[in-house]
Amino acid sequence: MASISVLGYGVVGTGIADLINKNKEKFKSITGEDLNISSILVRDKSKHEQKQNYHLITDNIEKVFNSPVDIIVEVMGGIHPAYDYVKKALKLKKHVVTANKDLIAEHGKELLDLAEANGVTLNFEASVGGGIPILKPLIECLSGNEIIGIKAILNGTTNFILSKMYSENASYEDALKLAQELGFAEANPDSDVLGYDAARKLSILSTIAYNKKINWKDLNLNGITSIDKIDFEYAKLNECTIKLLAVSKSQNNKVYGFVQPVMVRLDSYLSKLDDELNGIVIEGDAVGNVFFSGKGAGMLPTASSVFGDITDIIQNKNKKNIKFNADNAFIEKCWCDKSSWLVRIKTEDRLNTICTLSNNFKNCHIYTSNVTQANEVAAVIYEEYESTLKHTLEKFLDIPYINEIKKFMVL
Ligand code: HSE
Repeated sequence: MASISVLGYGVVGTGIADLINKNKEKFKSITGEDLNISSILVRDKSKHEQKQNYHLITDNIEKVFNSPVDIIVEVMGGIHPAYDYVKKALKLKKHVVTANKDLIAEHGKELLDLAEANGVTLNFEASVGGGIPILKPLIECLSGNEIIGIKAILNGTTNFILSKMYSENASYEDALKLAQELGFAEANPDSDVLGYDAARKLSILSTIAYNKKINWKDLNLNGITSIDKIDFEYAKLNECTIKLLAVSKSQNNKVYGFVQPVMVRLDSYLSKLDDELNGIVIEGDAVGNVFFSGKGAGMLPTASSVFGDITDIIQNKNKKNIKFNADNAFIEKCWCDKSSWLVRIKTEDRLNTICTLSNNFKNCHIYTSNVTQANEVAAVIYEEYESTLKHTLEKFLDIPYINEIKKFMVL
């Protein structure tokens, strides 16, 4: 008998309880064991009176730790108290499955070491890409590769918002509200829209892929809060859409990484992912590009990954944990490949701004479209180094008639 305790009974916890009830026979046929939820931890029992499984609900964590549980499933989210509970569970030699990207991005190494020291497993497939199987394929199936790069959409909420803005001309606020109602957004959606959530997931993927510690705070980070309808007009002119991309690349012992809104060409894999879909392109030196996609957020997709992790633990009880390297990667903030960039410059003097652009960039195409606003100049610039572009644009901000500059990488 495999006995599970679930910490947290929100959207994901409810999905896990549903999947466990639905798949008992299948689980037994795969593992030979019965699967049983012995308790569900909540903060406030009175809020769950109408729920199924009320008889399993407790608000007493000690009761959970003192019961004969094999696997603790942590789906509370956030660092506290999840961090303390997971640590205690591992010290008590309980296997842990978590969907908590914040926890793994901040404390993954310590927790994996603790699991190893106690002879138990810590699985966290659902922490990246929701329902997409990505960590196991990366760790196991792609082990014959040196991973060169990752290009991904890793946040369902922002992809939902940007998709609705692109295809339905929705306002940012309405699309965010809908994403919250559908249960994709974090309790505090700032973490979604400012790019922190995607950066944490990219740091987990990159730490595994490059076997170096990638701190999410060291990545170049920009959210989607300033994206407006005109940005989408320019994207369409360019045969692109706008996506919040999480990208990293390992080159010459350095890691380049960013999370930022990018103009993505309509003929690329990632441009076709709408709503809460996530997608990850991994480039390996042997395999080339492999593409994974699916629902990156929501009740059952996330529960699907958690269920897979539970099955994995029961099937392979003595499996070794992956290790996170303690050595920090050298992270470069500016991008390493030649790219083109769409820039929008707010200006009081269009003519002089156009001259300034032409004088400073050899390869620059100024837009003359009617999308262009009265007080701005827009252009696509081809530049070998992002650092050169950044430096030149920073100098532009010292020019009295230039007020503001917005730039998008075109990929
Ligand atoms: N808020 C997250 C997202 C949930 O929108 O992707 C899944 O991690």
